[in-house]
Amino acid sequence: EKGTYPHYMLKEIDEQPLVMRKIIQKYQDVNGQLNVDTEIVNAVNEADRIYIVACGTSYHAGLVGKQFIEKWAEIPVEVHVASEFSYNMPLLSEKPLFIFISQSGETADSRAVLVQVKELGHKALTITNVPGSTLSREADYTLLLHAGPEIAVASTKAYTAQIAVLAILAAVIAEANGKALSFDLMQELGIIANAMETLCDQKEEMDTIAREYLSTTRNCFFIGRTLDYYVGLEGALKLKEISYIQAEGFAGGELKHGTIALIEHGTPVIALATQEHINLSIRGNVKEVVARGANPCIISMKGLEEEGDRFVLPKVNEDLTPLISVIPLQLIAYYAALHRSCDVDKPRNLAKSVTVE
Ligand code: M6R
Repeated sequence: EKGTYPHYMLKEIDEQPLVMRKIIQKYQDVNGQLNVDTEIVNAVNEADRIYIVACGTSYHAGLVGKQFIEKWAEIPVEVHVASEFSYNMPLLSEKPLFIFISQSGETADSRAVLVQVKELGHKALTITNVPGSTLSREADYTLLLHAGPEIAVASTKAYTAQIAVLAILAAVIAEANGKALSFDLMQELGIIANAMETLCDQKEEMDTIAREYLSTTRNCFFIGRTLDYYVGLEGALKLKEISYIQAEGFAGGELKHGTIALIEHGTPVIALATQEHINLSIRGNVKEVVARGANPCIISMKGLEEEGDRFVLPKVNEDLTPLISVIPLQLIAYYAALHRSCDVDKPRNLAKSVTVE
């Protein structure tokens, strides 16, 4: 039930801090240690390469998850869009492990790949919000998101839950291999839950940004580098889905190879700057688009902020910024859709789960 909320999407955005705390509780043992089924840890550890397969928002979460697994656990990861993978399977490594990420666990494109790889005799882990769903039943292992039912077509809390569970999985694998993280992940996730709450309390500001940048525009760009780029892809998808604004996420450095031709006077460019090591470069990219007339909306992070930034996120661990930088983008998409009188929870042409290939 959506209770006093006007839309499920807004309710589900607001639930993210609670979901974070639930995940912390579910994936921690009585001694406060990370707790993931040993069978799963062993299966991941035995793999020489991990293939993440997913669609839409779940694919975007997979891109972030790849960074955790490669950086912390030092296992190579490929991330694939399910509908492409099934018709164009890459050469597989000797001992692959497949991770299917799916909120619903019912997405036909992902299931088609699962059937294919099972036939080849490979092991699969499903990360899903729905216990007993098809992808969960047909895989060897399941990790649950514990996000509670997600009703709005635009996925929000499932995305942050997927990222948190992928982080936990990566941290457990790293630990099992004697490469313990330099920080306490569960403590950081707790800090993130609080930061999420702060952001959810800043709805008016997001409403203002949406009104200012997006109420009449035809298009919008999201730029970032590394993790910020992946979150930009997700921000663009949210905006497209529910406000019907043509939106694209781009890697900041790639703009000059063609896309910058689309920047006109007043084109909104939402830039994420949450990573210290690429702060200079992304700010350089912002200058490039501004020089072509863009209307920039820079979302940075405490400690990296500069004059003129439109919004500053609370400081969290740099590896984990997607968990909070996505929240303003979700809210901006929500308010942009409202300002344009779109049906937020049931956007045109879309269904909550896509059960046809
Ligand atoms: O249930 P799934 O996570 O497998 O769904 C995948 C996509 O269909 C889904 O994320 C879709 O892109 C959402 N509508 C995005 O908001």
